[in-house]
Amino acid sequence: MELRRWSRMAGVAALLPLAACSAPAPSTGVADPMATAALAPGGGVQHRLLPADLVGFRALPAYAEPAWVTRDFVARGRLPPLAERLPRQPLVFGTAAMPDGIGHYGDALRQVTGGRPEGWNTSAGQSQGWGGVDIGTMECLTRTGPLFMVRSDALQPLPNLARGWTWSAGGHQLTMDLIEGARWSDGYPFTSDDVMFFWTDNVLDPQVSPLGGAGPDSFGAGTRLEALGPYTIRWTFRQPFPEDVLYQMAYGKFCPGPAHVLRPRHPRHNPRNSYADYRNAFPAARVNFPVMGAWVVTEYRPDDILIFRRNAYYWKVDAAGQQLPYFDELQYRLLGWNDRDIQVIAGTADLANVEVPGNYVEVLRQAAKPGAPFRIAFGPRGAAYAVLMNLSGNGWGEPDARGQRVRLLNRTLAFRQAVSLAMDRQALATTLVKGPFVLPYAGGILPDTPFYNAAATIQWGHDAARARTLLDGAGIVDSDGDGLRNFPGGGPDIEIVLTASPDTATDRSLAEGVQIFAREIGLRVILRFVGGTQRDAAGSSGQFDWLLTRNNSTELITVVQGADALAPMGPYTHAFHRAGPGGRLDLLPYERDMVAAVQAFQDSRVPDARRAAMARYQAIGTANANTIGLVRFPGALIVNRRIANVPAGLPIFMFNWAEDAIMRERLFVPRSRQGGAELRPGTLPGCFDCRPS
Ligand code: GLA
Repeated sequence: MELRRWSRMAGVAALLPLAACSAPAPSTGVADPMATAALAPGGGVQHRLLPADLVGFRALPAYAEPAWVTRDFVARGRLPPLAERLPRQPLVFGTAAMPDGIGHYGDALRQVTGGRPEGWNTSAGQSQGWGGVDIGTMECLTRTGPLFMVRSDALQPLPNLARGWTWSAGGHQLTMDLIEGARWSDGYPFTSDDVMFFWTDNVLDPQVSPLGGAGPDSFGAGTRLEALGPYTIRWTFRQPFPEDVLYQMAYGKFCPGPAHVLRPRHPRHNPRNSYADYRNAFPAARVNFPVMGAWVVTEYRPDDILIFRRNAYYWKVDAAGQQLPYFDELQYRLLGWNDRDIQVIAGTADLANVEVPGNYVEVLRQAAKPGAPFRIAFGPRGAAYAVLMNLSGNGWGEPDARGQRVRLLNRTLAFRQAVSLAMDRQALATTLVKGPFVLPYAGGILPDTPFYNAAATIQWGHDAARARTLLDGAGIVDSDGDGLRNFPGGGPDIEIVLTASPDTATDRSLAEGVQIFAREIGLRVILRFVGGTQRDAAGSSGQFDWLLTRNNSTELITVVQGADALAPMGPYTHAFHRAGPGGRLDLLPYERDMVAAVQAFQDSRVPDARRAAMARYQAIGTANANTIGLVRFPGALIVNRRIANVPAGLPIFMFNWAEDAIMRERLFVPRSRQGGAELRPGTLPGCFDCRPS
């Protein structure tokens, strides 16, 4: 059916007169319709808080926990008293972070994910099933999700596992104090040993690729890290004051795993183990894996559910001294991405990022019904899709002869420009959903970011005729007369494999659209749909010609966060251009210029210079069709009405996903509305790896 719909669209596209803007013309800076679209009730983003209004670290006169924990666990000697489980100065949420005030314990937060947990070793790159599963279990040095509430002149990451930091006078060193006396969910102390194990044996180990992609260059080339004591670490940078690294230390680049559990399985410490053994040592079935997050996975039933219970060692409290989280249980039903929206609409789940444009009309219709169990807020920030072309001509991912030829095409300017001109973005948008929801996106930094510069942005219109001329001019012609272009020099028909996710209708529909529009300029694209984890693996191992990707990197939204991902800054960091077996990048001249622009951005603390650097980046990237942008659209957050403490104007994605920005550890259901949702009431996580005594 999808295909039929597409054939119709393509037919229509072919009959339409060619777009007036035949050449890539600089944007006229026309107002962004997404900003004005009638989509933003629930806007009202606060943007007025200081980081210190949200979180601080101090000792409180008294602490409390759910009565059943004290009664059934502490009083029976199954758990040490709360004061012994908390740090001397826990992280305290300020009342500004709690629009509905101090919460009530109990109940379950019911969520849905379309992903599946691969295992718990995120340090070695395993996915826990997305949808906010890992955000619920992982804690990172700093935190960025809630920054959407912070005043722009006071913007800097929130402290988290790093409770504070100071720069040396010259700005080359950053000393961080870690939270002192916090423990993993199995009671084992959290110290700089966990941080150093993550750094040396995971980030720096070329054979390990942690979830979130942290590598040696992610915190600046040549950066060093050392422990000065159990609760102090010191970074040394080549450049002075690289303040953006504080954003890198948030989800998901610096979220250490439990060294006491992981180290014995790492090949450097266990010669019997291979790297694959290490990665796979903690499969999803091995529940109760120690975490620093608010909840611990205690049960896993494949394709059914993940149950999490409260972490009795959690190190965050409310201003009244109540240990968090308020929710005793977190549930993730393992369904499809589409089901996430449907369950919230039906009132059987509590939270969803509506990001499937095909669902928008129905979600709005249902939200307008009196008595709808959920409320909706369309935020200005959402998602964008692009095709990434593999630019490594150096053997990354070990392409075969055909694959290598595709890489050489990808590295040809006229080819990238032609493919961009071939895309009828308006048709792509209409196929996802009718109405003003989805907009064309030609690639580069998104208009939503503070560093977007319209004048520096080359917008790629739809012009198949010009695309054909560009290909002809580059010698990429149909040399055997069968209607398909051949690899230059009389080679076989060009065949390009587009790797995409089958998991959402959006991905499938866009992939089919790309295939059809490429065919219109004589390029044969073969679709390769591979599910979540495999698709990520194909991406990070370089085994793709073209990759269809959403939000191709977080920096497209905020830029300050993850600027290193904007260009190939190091040999192993970039999404579509990495070093081959020789360890050397083969950057194109324009990529070198992009790297220089990003470097200038990162090296400067002067706002005007940073803006100028990003404008340069945008001009170079869009003129060279560095990525083939397709469409972008806003997202809506839908939340069950029983949930309290939801901040106003919460974007589904800005500094991080809504599951982080919403600060789930301090969400709650008022006592009068609680009841019945918990599947394992009265239980706490069991011990991990217990041996029968
Ligand atoms: C997936 C979902 C997003 C969000 C993230 C959180 O990518 O599509 O909406 O839930 O997981 O990790």
